[in-house]
Amino acid sequence: MSAETLTEPLLQATDVHKSYGRTAALDGAALTVRAGEVVAVMGPSGSGKSTLLHCLAGIVRADSGQVRYRGRDLTTMSDRERSALRRTDFGFVFQFGQLVPELTCLENVAIPLRLAGTRRRDAEARAGAWLERLEVGDVAGQRPGEVSGGQGQRVAVARALVAGPRVVFADEPTGALDSLNGERVMRLLTEAAHDTGAAVVLVTHEARVAAYSDREIVVRDGKSRDTERVS
Ligand SMILES: Nc1ncnc2c1ncn2[C@@H]1O[C@H](COP(=O)(O)OP(=O)(O)OP(=O)(O)O)[C@@H](O)[C@H]1O
Ligand SMILES: [Mg+2]
Repeated sequence: MSAETLTEPLLQATDVHKSYGRTAALDGAALTVRAGEVVAVMGPSGSGKSTLLHCLAGIVRADSGQVRYRGRDLTTMSDRERSALRRTDFGFVFQFGQLVPELTCLENVAIPLRLAGTRRRDAEARAGAWLERLEVGDVAGQRPGEVSGGQGQRVAVARALVAGPRVVFADEPTGALDSLNGERVMRLLTEAAHDTGAAVVLVTHEARVAAYSDREIVVRDGKSRDTERVS
């Protein structure tokens, strides 16, 4: 890791506001993520955790404030620029439902590589290696509806990491799993992220899931307390 990556934040949200009608989902949230670190975002239901993650990932545009990623402000980018950035630099794992049901698990994992222009053969070879690494090589040919919840989440983690993202966003990735499977998904996700140097922004309610992070921030009423606030 270079001196620059140690000092410069990779992703930094400052004074972010986002309202849905009269609901202020975010009311001055801040968060800093450095290269390779795992940050857990905690807080009660409805406090704005998912909205914060969506603003950081450029899925939702903040009403005001800044979201800087490697020197660029996501809040002023066009939708097209933000979706290009999501494809090249970010990976995503959600609670459920993110795998394409008509495709096999192998084809699902290969999607980010296929979108980046990798030939099918190469994409599927790399996808297969990721499935092995996540200990689900045996479900490669099955469709998501034919695998267990824990296996499906490990397939989703493989897909989030296959194209070498700098940041993986995970919103309650273990929320639908029992504790044993949840622990396994978290162990595999954090190990793979550390090995590849990807940062992880992890939304969770559960302290035992947050225990896999390097740092925790708490969101309450749309405001976050971040120990790493720089400015
Ligand atoms: N698309 C939307 N339209 C309208 N209101 C929304 C929308 N998304 C979020 N909200 C509202 O914004 C607030 C924050 O929601 P958010 O989903 O960010 O909370 P959360 O902390 O992720 O909650 P949970 O732990 O239940 O997932 C809530 O009051 C919610 O009802
Ligand atoms: Mg949420």
